[in-house]
Amino acid sequence: MDYKIHIPVMVKEVMELLNPVSHGTYVDATVGCAGHSLEILKRLDHQGRLIGIDRDESAIEISKEVLNDSRVILKKAKFSQLKEVLKELNIDSIDGIIFDLGVSMLQLKDFSRGFSFYSNENLDMRMDQTGALTAWDVVNKYSEKELERIFKEYGDEPFARRIARQIVRQRVKKTIDTCKELADLIERVIPRHGRLHPATQVFQAIRIEVNKEIDELIEGLSQALELLKSGGRICVISYHSGEDRVVKNFFREKQQNGIVRVLTKKPILPSLEEVSQNPSSRSARLRGGEKV
Ligand SMILES: C[S@@+](CC[C@H](N)C(=O)[O-])C[C@H]1O[C@@H](n2cnc3c(N)ncnc32)[C@H](O)[C@@H]1O
Repeated sequence: MDYKIHIPVMVKEVMELLNPVSHGTYVDATVGCAGHSLEILKRLDHQGRLIGIDRDESAIEISKEVLNDSRVILKKAKFSQLKEVLKELNIDSIDGIIFDLGVSMLQLKDFSRGFSFYSNENLDMRMDQTGALTAWDVVNKYSEKELERIFKEYGDEPFARRIARQIVRQRVKKTIDTCKELADLIERVIPRHGRLHPATQVFQAIRIEVNKEIDELIEGLSQALELLKSGGRICVISYHSGEDRVVKNFFREKQQNGIVRVLTKKPILPSLEEVSQNPSSRSARLRGGEKV
């Protein structure tokens, strides 16, 4: 698949916030299709280094082709393995790190990965295809209460209870196997509003649960802070309120403890122009902090 399928979000704003020094060592913890990595690389000289991490093998493969540069090291790993990865590379500190959370278009548009409402493939949604838990397990095995909780907590879904109840009723008759079966069920249960597919929030919530995205984020931020040099920066783009809350609270708490200086009192949002050119950027919120 073409790497240009994913348009990187708020590139100018991220670069201003990260403010790379040319000889520095940077980590892109969500290398994806390498959009932000390419921009960081442009700002580094021959001494600079970039470590690109992603838990998805296909992101690493595509980024190898896109970046193809001796200053870059790519590793398939999770946020929670950041320290381990850098230790293996004999890197004990870094000048900056970026997290661009969620999924890339490379993942969403590949129907075989089971992330899309329109896919006739089995519910999957694992970013790392060696992971044990799939979306099928969540939809067909979680209790009604658990489903309701994740739809509320990770999807801000106002019809969480109604959808959870309908899923449980349906699966007694027959398991819900494909993405399209689930999306159609949701469409029958809740009204359509505007242009967004009514299953958007539930699909997001299931994806977050499958990939344990909140736990990963909490662990990733704390490992990143340990690795940062004094004056080094963390930039995070999140795409839903639960994630943004974790990032905001993390920075706030570390600032109170005198470890971080918050660089964004309020989150930076994409411009109207960016949202019109790339509607996937609409919910993005960028926050940054500097290690004291
Ligand atoms: C929004 S995309 C990043 C796009 C990238 N910034 C670009 O411009 O092409 C998010 C990427 O982060 C990866 N990812 C999400 N959670 C992760 C985690 N806990 N550990 C490692 N990678 C993760 C996903 O697999 C996906 O490729």
